[in-house]
Parts: sequence; structure tokens; C-alpha cells
Amino acid sequence: MSQIKTPPFADFPFVSNEKITLRQLLHSDLGDLIEISFYDAVQATTLEQAIEMNSKINKDYEEGNSIHWAIVDNLTNKVVGTCGYYRGFDQGQGEIGCVLLPNYRGNGFMTHAIELAIKFGIKTMGLHRIWAATNKQNEKAIKLLERLDFKKIKALDDDNVEFEFRLP
Ligand SMILES: CC(C)(COP(=O)(O)OP(=O)(O)OC[C@H]1O[C@@H](n2cnc3c(N)ncnc32)[C@H](O)[C@@H]1OP(=O)(O)O)[C@@H](O)C(=O)NCCC(=O)NCCS
Repeated sequence: MSQIKTPPFADFPFVSNEKITLRQLLHSDLGDLIEISFYDAVQATTLEQAIEMNSKINKDYEEGNSIHWAIVDNLTNKVVGTCGYYRGFDQGQGEIGCVLLPNYRGNGFMTHAIELAIKFGIKTMGLHRIWAATNKQNEKAIKLLERLDFKKIKALDDDNVEFEFRLP
């Protein structure tokens, strides 16, 4: 298998298209993102928790196991959500995760964000497989993944299913 490039990079990955930009999260973003701050599936309820979680995510990036992006609406310059790779890059594979602030759902932001994250993963890092796990009842996530050509692979347990994206 060809060599993959893992974090940390010389510059934090910055990617954009006509609608959105993926950039590093800033400390000043965190106050707006408490309700969508997660670590190990635990959701933050206070700014302090969001800050602590962000420090852990930054450490994971420095150790080569994560890339956590803020998704910015180019039109308003507001952060609308986050996405990234969160559990390492073993064997050229990356697990993608994503969440939008509730007010910004239903506008196509995440479709654009995951497209950019996939492109970065495949073209810049050299990943050959990108996967995502979601709850079976999470219709919006399943619709998003299928819209982006992820295929359902298997049930992980009673509640969750795994989807994967591979180059054709
Ligand atoms: C999963 C999640 C990110 C999906 O959000 P979303 O808003 O449906 O996804 P997008 O931003 O790509 O928007 C797509 C929707 O906007 C609509 N839309 C409106 N304008 C659009 C545009 N210009 N371009 C594309 N889509 C547009 C699409 O039709 C689609 O709506 P539909 O699902 O009713 O058909 C969101 O539900 C979420 O944050 N959930 C909580 C976290 C979560 O479950 N994460 C997934 C773990 S894998």
C-alpha cells in the first residue's frame, strides 16, 4: 500500500469551495459550538467542557489521529458546524464524523463539507477508504451519506450501521 500522509501537517489543512471553507477551529468559535461539541460520544454542556474537549482533539491531531474542521459559510463567515476524521488513519482508512448547528441544517452545508473532506482524505492524505457509523434511525445522516455515494456495509450492533466510501 502506498504511503499515506497523516497529521500534523506543516500548515493546518484549509480547504474551500464556492459555498464553504473548512478551517482549524479557533478558541473564539467554541462558545457558539457548545451544543455540538463531543468527545468519545459525550456532549458538552458548558463552555469549559467544550474547551477541554477541543484540547483533547488538538492533541489527537498532534499525535496523528484526527483532523477537526470548523465549517464556515463563505457568505456570512459564520461557523455552521464541524466535521473531520476522528479515530486515526490505520491502514489508509479514516472515519468521518460531522455535525451542524441545528439552525443551519437543510441548506446543503454538510454535503459540501463532506465532499471537501473526502477529497482531502483521498487526494492529499492518500486514504483509500472512508467510513462512517450512524444510528439506523438517523435518516438525515443516512441521506447525507448516500447522497455522497457512501454504501451501507454492515450493522455494527442493534442500533448502528457502517457506511463506506471508496474510489470507484
Ligand atoms: C447529519 C446532518 C449533518 C445532516 O444535515 P443536513 O442539513 O441534512 O445536510 P446538508 O447540510 O448536506 O443539507 C442537505 C439538505 O439541505 C437541502 N438543501 C437545501 N439547499 C441546498 C443546497 N443549496 N445544496 C444542497 N442541499 C440543499 C437538501 O435537499 C437536503 O435536505 P433533505 O435531506 O430534506 O433532502 C445533521 O442532521 C446533523 O448535524 N445531525 C446531528 C449529527 C449527526 O447525526 N451526524 C452524523 C453522524 S455520521
